[in-house]
Amino acid sequence: MNIVWIITTLLVCLSVSVKCFVLQDSGISTNLDIARIKADVRRQKNVTDQLIQLAVNGSAKGQLYNRLADFVDRYGSRISGSQNLENSIEYIKLKMKEDKLENVYGDIVEVPHWERGEESAYMMKPRYKKLTMLGLGTSIATPPGGIHAEVLVVKTFEELERRASDAVGKIIVFNQDWVSYGVSGRYRFYGAARAAAVGGVASLIRSVTPFSINSPHTGSQVYNESIKKIPTACITVEDAEMMWRMSQRGERIEIFLNMSAKNFPKTLSRNVISEIVGSTYPDEVVLISGHIDSWDVGQGAMDDGAGALLGWQVLSMILQLGSRPKRTIRSIMWTAEEFGFYGSRDYFKRHKNDSFVFVSESDMGTFKPKGLTFGGNQDAVEVMKEVMGLLSIINATSLVTSSTDTFDGGEVTPWVRLGVPGAMLETYNEKYFYFHHSEGDTMEVLDSDDLDLCSAVWAVMAYTVANIEDSLPRDFV
Ligand SMILES: *[C@@H]1O[C@H](CO)[C@@H](O)[C@H](O)[C@H]1NC(C)=O
Ligand SMILES: *[C@@H]1O[C@H](CO)[C@@H](O)[C@H](O)[C@H]1NC(C)=O
Ligand SMILES: *[C@@H]1O[C@H](CO)[C@@H](O)[C@H](O)[C@H]1NC(C)=O
Ligand SMILES: *[C@@H]1O[C@H](CO)[C@@H](O)[C@H](O)[C@H]1NC(C)=O
Ligand SMILES: *[C@@H]1O[C@H](CO)[C@@H](O)[C@H](O)[C@H]1NC(C)=O
Ligand SMILES: *[C@@H]1O[C@H](CO)[C@@H](O)[C@H](O)[C@H]1NC(C)=O
Ligand SMILES: [Zn+2]
Repeated sequence: MNIVWIITTLLVCLSVSVKCFVLQDSGISTNLDIARIKADVRRQKNVTDQLIQLAVNGSAKGQLYNRLADFVDRYGSRISGSQNLENSIEYIKLKMKEDKLENVYGDIVEVPHWERGEESAYMMKPRYKKLTMLGLGTSIATPPGGIHAEVLVVKTFEELERRASDAVGKIIVFNQDWVSYGVSGRYRFYGAARAAAVGGVASLIRSVTPFSINSPHTGSQVYNESIKKIPTACITVEDAEMMWRMSQRGERIEIFLNMSAKNFPKTLSRNVISEIVGSTYPDEVVLISGHIDSWDVGQGAMDDGAGALLGWQVLSMILQLGSRPKRTIRSIMWTAEEFGFYGSRDYFKRHKNDSFVFVSESDMGTFKPKGLTFGGNQDAVEVMKEVMGLLSIINATSLVTSSTDTFDGGEVTPWVRLGVPGAMLETYNEKYFYFHHSEGDTMEVLDSDDLDLCSAVWAVMAYTVANIEDSLPRDFV
C-alpha cells in the first residue's frame, strides 16, 4: 500500500460519506462486490467438502485426539516458566516438522515463572477439617510458620467494604455466587488486593465454577502494587458454602494456611509458529491460534491443548489434501497465556507490520461445534455467512456476530481492534468451567469425534478465507 493510494481512498471515502471499506488483496483497492466474493466462497466447496470428509470419515479421523493424547500424556501440565513447558514445545516443533509443516520455529518471549510449592489449609474452628485448595498464580507465600487467623466470610466486594472494620487481621473468605466467568472471576483476580486494602492477612476465594465435586480451580490473580501483598488461594465451592453457613449462624471460624509459593525472575519461552505458505499472496496471513501453556494441575488437555493442536491439525489436513491456498495460513500456539496473554501481547507488538487478513483463536473448548463467533463489519459478516454454509453437512453453521470494537477474540483481540476480522470457535461448551484450571482438565473431557468436527470447522474457515481471491472485507484503519 502506498501513500497516494491511501490518500485517494480517503478522499473517495469522504466524498461518498458512508462508512468506507477497502479490500487489500494484491495491493489493489476495489469497491466491494459482496456478491462476487460470496460466489467465490461457494467455489471453494470442492476443497472444503474434501476437508470435511478427511476429518470426519477419512484418514484424518481420530488424528487430533491421538496427537493430543500423545502430547498431554507425555508432558502433562505445562505451566509458564517451567522446563516441562519448554520440553513440550521442543516435542511439538519436532512433530510438526516431521509432518512437513512449513516455517516451524519457536518465537522467543519473556514469561513469568511462578511455582506453587507445598501448600495446605485447615479449618481449625469450629471443627478441624482439611480444606482442599490451590494457590493462585503469582500469590506470595505465607510466613514459614503459616498464618493462623479468624475468618470473615463475605459474598461480595460491597459486603467487604461494609464490614471493613471487621476485616482487620482476618483471613477473608469470598463466597461469591457463580454468575459467569467474567463476573465471578473478578473475585479471583482482585480478591487479594481488595482483602488487603481493608487489613485482611490472606484471602481464600470460592472456585470460579458452576459445578463442583470438591474440586478447587486455580487461575491468575493481580496484586495492586500500592497495597500490601497477601497470600491467596482458591478453595472449593463446598467448603466456601459451608463456612458461609457457619458464619451466618454466628460461629467463630479459624483457618490455618501454609503456602510456600514463589515468584522467580522472568524467564524465556516460545510461541510456536508453523505455516503453509500461500501460493499467490504469501505475505497475507490468515492466523489460527490457541495456547500451549496451561496451569500446573490436570493435563491442560481442554485448556488449551486441543485449541493449540487444532492449528497443527488444520495445516496437516490441508497438506494431506495437497491443496495450497493463495494466502499463508499461520498457526501460532501462544505461550504464557494463563498469566495474562504474555506470548500474544509480545507478538502483537513485534508484528505490527505483518499483513493479517483474518485472525482466530480456539480457547473456549472443543466440544461438539456450533460454528463461530465473529467480529467484523457487515460486509465481512455477509461473506462469513456464506463460509458457514459450507459447513451445513456437519450442522456447524452458527455465526454469532459483533463489531470489531466489541468482539471478544481472546488473544487475537488486539488485531480485531485494528479492524481485522476475527473469529473464535464456538462449541457446546456448557461444561467448560466444570474442568477449567483444575485437576479435572484431562483427555476424559474430550471426545474424538467432536475434535474431528472442530478440526473440520477450523479448516474450512481457514482454507476459505485464505483461498478466495479478495481478502475478507475489513474496517478501514
Ligand atoms: C475447485 O473448483 C474450482 C472451480 O469451481 C477449480 O478452479 C479448482 O481447481 C478446484 N480445486 C480442486 C482442488 O479441485
Ligand atoms: C460419514 O460416514 C457416515 C457413515 O457412512 C455417514 O452417516 C456420515 O454422513 C458421513 N459424514 C459426512 C460428514 O459425510
Ligand atoms: C509450612 O510449610 C512448610 C513448607 O512446606 C513446612 O516446611 C512447614 O513445616 C509448614 N509449617 C507448618 C507449621 O505446618
Ligand atoms: C490500587 O489501590 C489504590 C489505593 O486503594 C486505588 O486507588 C487504585 O485504584 C487501585 N488500583 C487498581 C488498579 O485497582
Ligand atoms: C514497521 O514498519 C515501520 C516503517 O518501515 C518501522 O519504522 C517500524 O519499526 C516497523 N515496526 C515493527 C514492529 O516492525
Ligand atoms: C443444528 O444446530 C443447531 C444449532 O446451531 C441446533 O439447534 C439443531 O438442533 C442442530 N440440528 C441437528 C439435526 O443436530
Ligand atoms: Zn485457555
